[in-house]
Amino acid sequence: MVNPFNVFNADLEQAARAAAAHAYAPYSKFPVGAAVLTADGTRYVGCNVENASFGLTNCAERTAVFNAVAAGHREITCVAIHTPTVTPTAPCGACRQVLREFGASMQVIATCDGPDRIETTLNQLLPNSFGPESLNPSHKA
Ligand code: THU
Repeated sequence: MVNPFNVFNADLEQAARAAAAHAYAPYSKFPVGAAVLTADGTRYVGCNVENASFGLTNCAERTAVFNAVAAGHREITCVAIHTPTVTPTAPCGACRQVLREFGASMQVIATCDGPDRIETTLNQLLPNSFGPESLNPSHKA
């Protein structure tokens, strides 16, 4: 589904940038912020949250998705990701799969402190993906 809230994308990008400032990334020193837009136009943010037991780190995108889901949402139309770097950062493989659960064709925007940006869709980042309909063909995407 195409994001029907394009007008909000600048806000979403700004929210992702603000969330990056809250990242807890003392080990990698690679802060990431994310903001997701739900089907009704509500916005949820997330940041990466690292742990001294490194494998327990949660990425910014998954934090944002879990925030939206915990508030009752089940459809995400757009995700914005911000890193304070010179090039934009695309979501990692694990986050692509988690995002896919709530919007196979959501828009994906990645911004950084430079002029470069990524504007794509989850379908492009994760083609031929596995999702709820793979388990149950009658599942409404
Ligand atoms: N990270 C994210 O938050 N999102 C991604 O898509 C890629 C990686 C975080 C995890 C870790 O805290 C840091 O970036 C370095 O990998």
